[in-house]
Amino acid sequence: MHKNTKKTDLQLIKRGNLGNKRSLGIQNPTLIDFCSNDYLGFAKSRELKNKIVSAYGQLDSKNGATGSRLLTGNSELAQQVEQELAANFGFESCLVFNSGYTANLGFFSSVPQRGDTIFYDELSHACIKDGCRLSLAKAIPFKHNDLDDLERKLKNAEGEIYIACESIYSMDGDFAPLAALCDLSERYDASLIVDEAHSTGAFGLNGAGLVAQLELSARVFAVIFTFGKAMGVHSACIASNAQIREYLINFSRPFIYTTAPSDFDFLSIRMAFEHLKQNPLLQQVLHQHIDLFNASLQVKRDSRYISRSAVHVILTPGNENAKSLAHLLSNQGYDVRPILSPTVKVGQERLRICLHTFNATEQVISLTQSLNSLLC
Ligand SMILES: Cc1ncc(COP(=O)(O)O)c(C=O)c1O
Repeated sequence: MHKNTKKTDLQLIKRGNLGNKRSLGIQNPTLIDFCSNDYLGFAKSRELKNKIVSAYGQLDSKNGATGSRLLTGNSELAQQVEQELAANFGFESCLVFNSGYTANLGFFSSVPQRGDTIFYDELSHACIKDGCRLSLAKAIPFKHNDLDDLERKLKNAEGEIYIACESIYSMDGDFAPLAALCDLSERYDASLIVDEAHSTGAFGLNGAGLVAQLELSARVFAVIFTFGKAMGVHSACIASNAQIREYLINFSRPFIYTTAPSDFDFLSIRMAFEHLKQNPLLQQVLHQHIDLFNASLQVKRDSRYISRSAVHVILTPGNENAKSLAHLLSNQGYDVRPILSPTVKVGQERLRICLHTFNATEQVISLTQSLNSLLC
């Protein structure tokens, strides 16, 4: 075994002292799930599982992809599923990556180039930021959802300009002003990239997300869709035009230098979207729960935290505070997770509550009653 270096030891000790050392746990199945990203219950769905297993049984596929897509890892199925996804999302083409993390890394590290400028919302997910760090382009954050701040910065932009946002922010649950971002992108000849991780499946016809729901697809340069959240399976894709797909295949290192997803993964994506098509009312159930949660919660929240998405946030500043509230909720039978600094800024620690189709109406009401009595 390797001896830990002094620096890594010190970092862990510091984390422990700050009360935010991470460790792996297994979800307690006896608690009511108000924390997973399984918004439509697809990850838990026996019916979807049976559909995937039955369809997989009829395929003559290898167990694994056996190589990268550019070597032996490509298949007819992979290409067909990418075409189906592109048609579903209203884009010319799609390219599947192993995860949303690698899709964002793959896009931002390769498409914007030296001399170009990327503007990204300051609350963007770590993988957008990490992609920007790997890019040779200049990357500049703008204040969260602040179009004035973005426009001020756009005036001094160099080279080709890219703007990155999320349709729904993962740790805040609020929406990006997508139509206004399209207007601004067009005014400054910038390319808008939208990460739909938390809207894929949960919004839009057949789960095509918010960009499609708002009929903005033709005005957005690229969209990142992920399949590990509402779609209940795994991996992600970048939807854009055919030339960008070809560019990514040639230059995006997180696509090129990795084993491809297996046919099982591609089939699971297909079956998850078919399952959603066959159960279009599921989105409505989710949105009824969202309305019910907002109507029943009396805890005072800044208007920006009154969310229309499945992700709801209650600020509970301080790591210990957030942890002890989550603990109290768990004693009452609810699995609600605290989000600690440094995942969010110090002072912005919070409870992140995710609503799902499988949460019963009474469970949503009783959770809000518990929150009301703990926090009002
Ligand atoms: C906004 C956003 N983008 C991308 C990702 C990464 O997606 P994946 O989990 O498929 O790697 C996440 C995951 O939490 C996310 O919240």
